[in-house]
Amino acid sequence: MTTLHAAPLQGHTDAAWRRLHSEIYGDCQRAAAVTYYTPFVRLEKNDPRRHDMRDFTSPLNEGVDLIPQIIFGTAEEFRRLVDSLVAAGAGRINLNCGCPFPLQTARGRGAASLALLPDIASVMAEYTSVDFSLKMRPGMTRPDEWRAVVDTINGMPLTAVTMHPRTAKQQYRGELHREEFAAFLSECRHPVIFNGDLLVPADIDTVTESYPGLAGVMAGRGLVGRPSLFAEYAGGGEWDRARRLDAMLRLHDRLYAHYCRTLCGDSQILSKIKPFWEYSEAEIGRKAWKALHKAMTPAKYRAALSMIG
Ligand SMILES: Cc1cc2nc3c(=O)[nH]c(=O)nc-3n(C[C@H](O)[C@H](O)[C@H](O)COP(=O)(O)O)c2cc1C
Repeated sequence: MTTLHAAPLQGHTDAAWRRLHSEIYGDCQRAAAVTYYTPFVRLEKNDPRRHDMRDFTSPLNEGVDLIPQIIFGTAEEFRRLVDSLVAAGAGRINLNCGCPFPLQTARGRGAASLALLPDIASVMAEYTSVDFSLKMRPGMTRPDEWRAVVDTINGMPLTAVTMHPRTAKQQYRGELHREEFAAFLSECRHPVIFNGDLLVPADIDTVTESYPGLAGVMAGRGLVGRPSLFAEYAGGGEWDRARRLDAMLRLHDRLYAHYCRTLCGDSQILSKIKPFWEYSEAEIGRKAWKALHKAMTPAKYRAALSMIG
């Protein structure tokens, strides 16, 4: 069975979501190793953002197989982030070389940092006690840009490379460059993980069958929208809708209760919990999905919840 990776999604996969997801689906996911990632930790005024670091150091992470992720635009930023995470106990660190947002790429970060890898490679060699992995796009505007850096990547001490085979320009939509991915897989000497558009368990079978030699798959929106995705795959078959919704609502209810305990005020709580449903239209149906999206008060939100089923 392939290894399973829960993609980092800023605004969705925070420490509470990861903890509750691994608790609720953990038994069924057990047949395959599931690894979770933090959304990227970034520098703000030259220091790691406190909110990001808290997400990594939260006690909620106990028992969760978790890799923190960093985003950087210079070798100096890389060093500061790695030092801070190592001081906070990280033994593994994932490098974000895929974020397509212009706010980040304009600073040489995310997808733009592929160009920086030759500099990073030499700094990385100093951190012999850290296991590094990479998450990347095939390029900024062209899907074959990875070819210019694959030798550098092959020379780096990486435990895995995840590729989402869309260019940064495409952001999260449009064609997946499957042939470029296959070419990357054959040229990369590290274990390679496929990431993109895995929505139902059969999609994972299709990808693992299409790419022999693949080390694992990573799902983001598909797993947030259908949190049983990995449990179903690892358990060997699709769950019926009632079972999927039952587990999803348990995850939601515990997450909502957590936000009610830890946040102040209805609008803060609602703005934190509503993204839970963002990618679940196919699971819960358009009517409930729209009502949840539109709900501006706890009463309307609860009424919208009762439409699921
Ligand atoms: C709202 C949102 C936030 C994301 N945040 C991150 C992030 O913090 N770090 C990262 O590496 N990728 C991030 N991604 C990209 C996902 O991890 C993933 O690579 C992408 O969504 C494609 O996979 P999917 O089709 O399974 O969702 C984000 C994507 C979305 C839509």
